[in-house]
Amino acid sequence: MTTFALELDAVTKRFGDRVAVDDLTLRLEPGTFLGLLGRNGAGKSTTLKMMTGLVRPTAGRVLVLGIDMAKDPIAVKRQIGAMPEDMALMELLTGPQYLRFVGRMHGLDEALIAQRQEELFAILDLAPGPRTLVADFSFGMKKKLALSAALLHGPRILFLDEPFEGIDPVTSRTIKEILLTLQRRGVTLILTSHILEVVEKLCPLIAILDDGRLKGFGTLETLRQRGESLEALFVDLVGGERKGELSWL
Ligand SMILES: Nc1ncnc2c1ncn2[C@@H]1O[C@H](COP(=O)(O)OP(=O)(O)O)[C@@H](O)[C@H]1O
Ligand SMILES: [Mg+2]
Repeated sequence: MTTFALELDAVTKRFGDRVAVDDLTLRLEPGTFLGLLGRNGAGKSTTLKMMTGLVRPTAGRVLVLGIDMAKDPIAVKRQIGAMPEDMALMELLTGPQYLRFVGRMHGLDEALIAQRQEELFAILDLAPGPRTLVADFSFGMKKKLALSAALLHGPRILFLDEPFEGIDPVTSRTIKEILLTLQRRGVTLILTSHILEVVEKLCPLIAILDDGRLKGFGTLETLRQRGESLEALFVDLVGGERKGELSWL
């Protein structure tokens, strides 16, 4: 029996009477690169947070590499890397200090952390001043640091929430290259995006979420067979009717 990299069984998340994620069932083989696509408010971030143990489902079960997230979240977190939507960095540390903190939480020794930090900063072209605090990083620098933190311990699954938001095209390309390298090495990748082109170019497997529900799931080819283009299918699935015109323009 193969162990799925990720398994969601009838997962629901309610915030008060708002259902953010509704009865979501999803199974991913190891080595998959999934793009979770949906409009703003579709439930992508909430889904990712439940997959990474940041939010507890109201109902249902999340298994990561066969481990039940509710029963052993620490065992799960050892094996995954995550870049959450708010990045959750420590603003009063410098970049290297933050990575040292993250690395030590993963039980890595100082020399290894320093070596990996240098490699990550070099490849991401991240060069803050020696005393620059994370609080003073630009948005792009924070994203690079958050990605570095997610990769530091060599995760088997990487979760990225809107990794290309607010990122310049050069950095964007670097991140894409890193993700494709990870994919070739067998890392399971899951990213969210509301941008069709990002998912279309990068992710062989796509899940379309709308109003907390799974509206489409499959490879790019199978989804394309259902509509003339992924865009047409997306609009069709999530209902893109125009809401009228602005009265004063
Ligand atoms: N902590 C929270 N408290 C209350 N409502 C929330 C919370 N997080 C998300 N929601 C709601 O759940 C829905 C899905 O949000 P989210 O998962 O952030 O969507 P997406 O990432 O696709 O834009 C939205 O209606 C949002 O307002
Ligand atoms: Mg989101």
